[in-house]
Amino acid sequence: MGGPALYSERKGDPALTGRHSPFPVTHQAAERWFYHMEKALESTPYIDADSKLKMMKFFRRTAFFLVAGDELKNENQRVP
Ligand code: HEM
Repeated sequence: MGGPALYSERKGDPALTGRHSPFPVTHQAAERWFYHMEKALESTPYIDADSKLKMMKFFRRTAFFLVAGDELKNENQRVP
């Protein structure tokens, strides 16, 4: 609606969390995802170093945000 994206800035994109919820996004999966994303970025000469760094920071934050969401999901599903 044109306002600042405060919710998404604080909580991440809710759609992204939802789209990942069917998959096991574990700590190990995040490390692998991040490793391959880094390799992909390194292999392209078309993105400048500063932008690459900014993207990597965003990817790391988002990847571990998704891991946290996944851990919460498992906790909710635990049988008492
Ligand atoms: C942390 C480890 C991650 C794992 C294991 C993972 C895994 C997956 C999988 C299995 C899919 C579905 C692919 C398909 O439908 O064929 C997916 C979709 C997607 N992922 Fe990830 N992902 C990870 C992190 C991220 C991060 C950090 C981002 C963004 C920075 C991201 C962005 C997306 C997007 C945009 C889609 C497509 C969503 C859609 O269909 O609407 N993922 N991911």
